[in-house]
Amino acid sequence: MSAALFRTLLARLYPMPNRDLRRLEAALHDIAWHARADRPPPLQEWDLSRSPRWHTGSEAVAYVAYADLFTRDFGAGPPLRELAARLPYLADLGVTVLHLLPIQKSSGDAGFAVDDYTQVDPRFGTMDDLEDLCRQAHARGISILLDFVLNHTSDLHPWAEAAKRGDPRYREFYVWDETGTGAPWPGVPDIFPDFAPGHWDWVPEQGKYVWSTFYKRQPRKDGPRTGACAQWDLNYANPNVLFAMVDTALQLLNKGVDGLRLDAVPFLWKEPGTACVSHPKVHDLLRVLRILVESVAPGAVLLAEANDQLAGLTEYFGTGPFRGRETHLAYAFPLMPCLWYASAKADTTPLQAVMARMPQLPENASWLVFDEVHDEVSLETIAGLFPGPRGAALNRELFAHFTAEGRGEPFRFDPARQEYGQGVSGTRWSLLDGARAEADGDLHGVEDAIKRVLLHEAFKAAAGGMPLIYAGSEVGLANDPSYRQDPVKAPDTRFLKRTVYPRAAAERAYREGTKEARLFAGVKRILAARKVEPAFRGTRTILLDTPEAALLGFVRPARDGDVYCFFNFGPARWQVSVQTGADSDPESPLKDLLTGLEVLPDQPLELEGLSFRWLKEQPGKKPEPVAV
Ligand code: GLC
Repeated sequence: MSAALFRTLLARLYPMPNRDLRRLEAALHDIAWHARADRPPPLQEWDLSRSPRWHTGSEAVAYVAYADLFTRDFGAGPPLRELAARLPYLADLGVTVLHLLPIQKSSGDAGFAVDDYTQVDPRFGTMDDLEDLCRQAHARGISILLDFVLNHTSDLHPWAEAAKRGDPRYREFYVWDETGTGAPWPGVPDIFPDFAPGHWDWVPEQGKYVWSTFYKRQPRKDGPRTGACAQWDLNYANPNVLFAMVDTALQLLNKGVDGLRLDAVPFLWKEPGTACVSHPKVHDLLRVLRILVESVAPGAVLLAEANDQLAGLTEYFGTGPFRGRETHLAYAFPLMPCLWYASAKADTTPLQAVMARMPQLPENASWLVFDEVHDEVSLETIAGLFPGPRGAALNRELFAHFTAEGRGEPFRFDPARQEYGQGVSGTRWSLLDGARAEADGDLHGVEDAIKRVLLHEAFKAAAGGMPLIYAGSEVGLANDPSYRQDPVKAPDTRFLKRTVYPRAAAERAYREGTKEARLFAGVKRILAARKVEPAFRGTRTILLDTPEAALLGFVRPARDGDVYCFFNFGPARWQVSVQTGADSDPESPLKDLLTGLEVLPDQPLELEGLSFRWLKEQPGKKPEPVAV
């Protein structure tokens, strides 16, 4: 990256006289220089030893967990230390990237209200434990991805405390309502309209409102202080905020962390008259961060958490001269509700519509393909896919399905409009009816739910990106409604799925015949087949025509033979014909990557209900002689 482009970014972000700009640039270089000098030699060797494209490989599989919930039932030590003992389980499943949800000192929002970036929350352990975990994970070929909550601090962070006291340096770390009215800026979305409405938090010490996109203590001046915690947005228009956060990021990477999940990244820049979401300057900030991160930890990756439509989302990989120079990874948000739609309605039309529009990504970038995380399943992006009443109808249909019959709970109620925001909380096993079938002793239902889980996993593994598994979904953990007894958690239904991973479930994962073992073995088989298949590298997919809405087919191209992927989201059996390309050998059999069996291209392919097939071309291979 040329120094001139770096300067262009800074000049766009911070219009100021050249002399001041040069000082700003020098300060950033200085932070990076110190971080480079501090980078421990073993990490420097680690940087050199790995491909800069490690996140795009077919072996790259991510697993997301809360360190405490994932280890609590396995040992009484600090979760970061107990995690080391859980690494063999993850490695056995086929996981190569462990994403830890926030572990820094925090006062709420399940860790996303950070009180101190430099300290691990004592409930989790210490920074030394984190360093040790990274070392042990690396030794097993597992990379660690850490949450970096860069959009906001908690109101108990020393910067916020200083701002409350009126310290002018730290007051400027946040965004204040200078009108004194707390009137919302027009067009700015309301993220938690029920339990933390608006985008201001009242600060009695200052007699003013401060910007808060997420949790607030007191959204109205005359209201009671009710919020369980508060998250105050950082003011990136102040270069001192950028300095502090770049320094924080680089220090975390120097602990051995391999990547940072950039939490709530679209909200970083506020400008009146805009929605304050994915502002162009957000992208400039990320480009600056990328350059500095690369200069210190060249193998580290940045993951954008941006719940946006495809076009806006793709910009997080960089555009124009910055293509391939922004974040390395982004959650494939538009695919997610469409996958749930396919499951719920046996209809892949929306999924096909998104896949047909997936753009070609830069070679060094990839999607994180997921069906669930620690948050709600946000169904609203499906509405944007089909403008007008169709999109809204799909959205409502999905919401109604997943909140019915105890599958999940609505997330985000908008009291002003008396409607839910089309998000639903729940674990995958519950949302796919597995938990209900188990409770009813409905064996067919359990069978179906197992097949659906594996369909989800097979789709995520093949769709063109790094698949992400939410902790416990690989053994079918069910909703845990106990959060309702805790007054702090009760208003936030997302806690329904933030459950302890029980030791008994891990044991059953290895006890043949249990549902946990069937799920675990099924996921493991899918990931093992993916790992060795070159066609699953990178992100290119080519959609195929299929005769039924329940069916989805696409090709993953590869030099040594393409892979044809078929999925049947419906209960009925269908046949499809595999139309290999014109340059394919019509005599050569295709190999089923899961069973190893051969399939002749001119024979119809059987697709059982709720099943999938991955078929690999084998150019030049003659069919196996049939034994008589
Ligand atoms: C992200 C997190 C979510 C959190 C929010 C505020 O969306 O995934 O859990 O509440 O940011 O930090």
